[in-house]
Amino acid sequence: MRIILTGAKGMLASDIQMVLSQREELIPLSKEELDITDSGKVMDVISSLKPDVVIHCAAFTNVDQCELEPEKAYRVNTLGTWAVASACAKTGALLVYISTDYVFDGRKGSPYLEIDEPNPLNVYGKSKLGGEKMVMALHRRFFIVRTAGLYGTKGKSFVTTILSKAKEGRPLSVVSDQIVSPTYTYDLAQAISHLIYSPFCGIYHIVNQGEVSWYEFAQEALKLAGISTPLKPITSSEWPSPAKRPPYSALRTFAWDNFHFPPLRKWQDALSDFLSQIGGV
Ligand SMILES: NC(=O)c1ccc[n+]([C@@H]2O[C@H](COP(=O)([O-])OP(=O)(O)OC[C@H]3O[C@@H](n4cnc5c(N)ncnc54)[C@H](OP(=O)(O)O)[C@@H]3O)[C@@H](O)[C@H]2O)c1
Repeated sequence: MRIILTGAKGMLASDIQMVLSQREELIPLSKEELDITDSGKVMDVISSLKPDVVIHCAAFTNVDQCELEPEKAYRVNTLGTWAVASACAKTGALLVYISTDYVFDGRKGSPYLEIDEPNPLNVYGKSKLGGEKMVMALHRRFFIVRTAGLYGTKGKSFVTTILSKAKEGRPLSVVSDQIVSPTYTYDLAQAISHLIYSPFCGIYHIVNQGEVSWYEFAQEALKLAGISTPLKPITSSEWPSPAKRPPYSALRTFAWDNFHFPPLRKWQDALSDFLSQIGGV
């Protein structure tokens, strides 16, 4: 299959390249090569390359910065996805759109299913939900993959920030009242490499198994890395940030399990593997 990857220099896209390039003809397109806000170019490039699949990773992903630049968030995450979905509809390419747990408001109190009603609390979540709506309105052959708390070997993430601050000997304060399903990009890339061959299109939640607060996640990362640094649990109100975040956004991989895809590892196992990959253990 010929596969176009948008946002190719990003953290998840880097692992998708590693996993899929041995198996399929992969065409990675960075922001410099294909800016998804240039709708004419998106249509031209996808029409001329005629891919079988487009894996759409490009996004404005800085959650707090999205709050400060809402028009840019809407332009990239919603309208950019509109352009990609239109081009896929025109050419018949299968579209894989990566979305987020932040489409939910966090009031449910148990892991979110694919059929639960989104109600984003911040601009990032709204703009990504806008992208989902474009995909569903414009195209039939799509996978919407909602994932969460990504970390990987090719980018900056919560884990890498915690480890680098701890290595500098700085005491750490981390919120303990936001529960998530943190996910290793390598595991998600493997999952996507199965998904694209499935005939069962639709919305999937794909995360490592389990749920954890950011505080407990940091605690486990430091323990596995053998770093003893003072780590203090704090509440979200003690860590003011431009974007509001859901207090609970764990995802349940209900559709994934239903269609008998191989289960993803527990978050602890994935984190441990990640730390050994980066030489942190
Ligand atoms: N990170 C998470 O915790 C998380 C959680 C849930 C869902 N997701 C979703 O997962 C996907 C991948 O996330 P990630 O963490 O791998 O993000 P990332 O590392 O920030 O990668 C996104 C890539 O998109 C590029 N990009 C930004 N604007 C673009 C534009 N106008 N045209 C083309 N490319 C553009 C970025 O380039 P520049 O860096 O040069 O701007 C970057 O290379 C995104 O759709 C994100 O919304 C992420």
